[in-house]
Amino acid sequence: MHDRQLTAIAGAVGTPTYVYDAALIRERYAALVGALAPRFPCQVFYAVKANSNLAVLALLRGLGAGADIVSGGELFRARRAGFAPGQIVFSGVGKTDDELAAALEAPIRQINLESEAEADRVLALAARAGQVAAVGIRVNPEVRAETHPYTRTAEKGMKFGLPLDRVVPLAVRLARSGHARVTALAMHLGSQIVTGAPFRTGAERLADVVTSVRAAGVDTLAAISVGGGLGIAYAADDPALDPGEFAEAVAPLAAATGLPLIVEPGRYLVGPAGVLLTRVLYRKHAGGRDIVITDAGMNDLLRPALYQAHHPVRLVGGPDDARAEVVDVVGPICESGDFLARDQSVAGAERGALLAIGGAGAYGFSMSSQYNSRRRAAEVVVDGDRWGVARAREQLEDLIQGEVTEPRWVSQP
Ligand SMILES: Cc1ncc(COP(=O)(O)O)c(C=O)c1O
Repeated sequence: MHDRQLTAIAGAVGTPTYVYDAALIRERYAALVGALAPRFPCQVFYAVKANSNLAVLALLRGLGAGADIVSGGELFRARRAGFAPGQIVFSGVGKTDDELAAALEAPIRQINLESEAEADRVLALAARAGQVAAVGIRVNPEVRAETHPYTRTAEKGMKFGLPLDRVVPLAVRLARSGHARVTALAMHLGSQIVTGAPFRTGAERLADVVTSVRAAGVDTLAAISVGGGLGIAYAADDPALDPGEFAEAVAPLAAATGLPLIVEPGRYLVGPAGVLLTRVLYRKHAGGRDIVITDAGMNDLLRPALYQAHHPVRLVGGPDDARAEVVDVVGPICESGDFLARDQSVAGAERGALLAIGGAGAYGFSMSSQYNSRRRAAEVVVDGDRWGVARAREQLEDLIQGEVTEPRWVSQP
């Protein structure tokens, strides 16, 4: 994606607009598979939550990825994007009966169970439908990943997965139920993990659990999921997890169990491939700080407010002699937490300037909202020298869809 394209897109579609680089997504998919496939049999299931735009999903499906979903809404999207039910796995701690029923009806490849109570619901629904559900058990291997506390998912006492000592009893109960086949064990350690060590430890623990599950007589395992979480560099000198290091860390699990590994990357595949285009509305000085106010806010890109995440900001399309200055880049929303960058050196951030916020392809649009009654941004895909709108900017009418000034009252004496 070059500046002339970005300038043309902003001119035609307006701002704020997310722009995704299809070529870079292809490149990253190839790099990941290139690192994994020579070391062990593997299947990539893209974590839809990272960027669930239909065009992005269809692109990844075309490359051979499956879909890792966490809601009925993501199941709907994945199916619309052309994923076959057998290419879909379903994770998440709070699946509703409706969501489970939809997954069983499809039927998707596997539902990853995260509690005994959820297993009971799946067994009941499968029994009612006269089905044998293909299930995975998500294990909490109790591995701390050095990432933001809000993106760690595998520490003791967390809501995710099943504690290690409860996996075998559940696997046995499921296997004996007549309504479930335990096809996988799974883990997901967290997101934005930049070293291989936690994956190595998690893989070792999972290998032990596989041994115990098999020793207990459950012999239906067909794959092990090692989750997603591969970290990317948001700044030039940031560490990132090389897919080769990741592959080395988890390879012993495939060797020890003789099973193919499922990998569920989201951020790695799409994060670096997206920018958020925004225009500078105003600039002001206050308390010794230079504040650049843009037409994108925390409703468009939540990560800085939620995780104090860093995203690089740069001027698109000059002028070439624009002087870099240290500024805060903030949105128009009525929250002090509404910032996109703090203390960042940005050139030419004057009224009307077009800025690109980098690393915005993952957990950008998909975490966006209409807070402050702001229409959600447009999404555009660039593919070589062409580009196209993949999601139109919302209209004002979209803001009030389903709302009425006078509710249809129901009497409940
Ligand atoms: C079960 C599961 N798999 C995969 C992912 C993708 O993580 P990432 O985008 O860091 O690769 C997530 C993210 O939360 C997840 O919950």
